[in-house]
Amino acid sequence: MKLTEIILNRRSIRKYKNDEIPEDKLRKILQAGLMAPSSQNRKPCEFYVIRNRGILKSLSEAKAMGAAMLSECNMAIAVLGDGEKADTWIEDCSIALSFMMLEAEEQGVGSCWCQMHLRSSADGKDAEENVRGILHISAKYRIVGVLALGIPEQKPSPHSPDEADWNKVHYF
Ligand SMILES: Cc1cc2nc3c(=O)[nH]c(=O)nc-3n(C[C@H](O)[C@H](O)[C@H](O)COP(=O)(O)O)c2cc1C
Repeated sequence: MKLTEIILNRRSIRKYKNDEIPEDKLRKILQAGLMAPSSQNRKPCEFYVIRNRGILKSLSEAKAMGAAMLSECNMAIAVLGDGEKADTWIEDCSIALSFMMLEAEEQGVGSCWCQMHLRSSADGKDAEENVRGILHISAKYRIVGVLALGIPEQKPSPHSPDEADWNKVHYF
């Protein structure tokens, strides 16, 4: 697919088939994250691939709402940013997540970004801390998001170029 088509076709997918994601597709998705640009090329992102169902279930409860797909997906990639390595961890991890979503679309794999940073669980605990606890990660790592992945069970309609709100573009 051409990039323009990938951008229009990519939708958040929250329902998945039971099928496994082939290893070569996962590798291409990870490669996209690893190849994403970062400020001053500091590359502060680490990628945790999670297939263990118990861990996926725990992650789905790491925040109060909007994480249910993590217990149903085939696997998830938690994107961690080393806050000591780069003050741009939010930007760097966000770009890596975005690149992986686009490559997932190219590979026919459904994805959905699950926000953890700035969110909390039903019992009021910080979602990032919950994720660090579940994955036994040091406090220097920040968790921007967890990408749920799976072979799509649903096919939401692609975005149309007509949705672009050109009023948001300002020329000087
Ligand atoms: C920064 C960010 C955080 C998001 N967090 C969640 C989330 O926690 N749970 C969820 O179900 N979807 C989440 N999404 C997906 C958005 O809801 C979705 O991208 C948006 O509604 C547009 O739909 P589309 O992705 O199908 O184009 C997130 C997306 C972004 C970019």
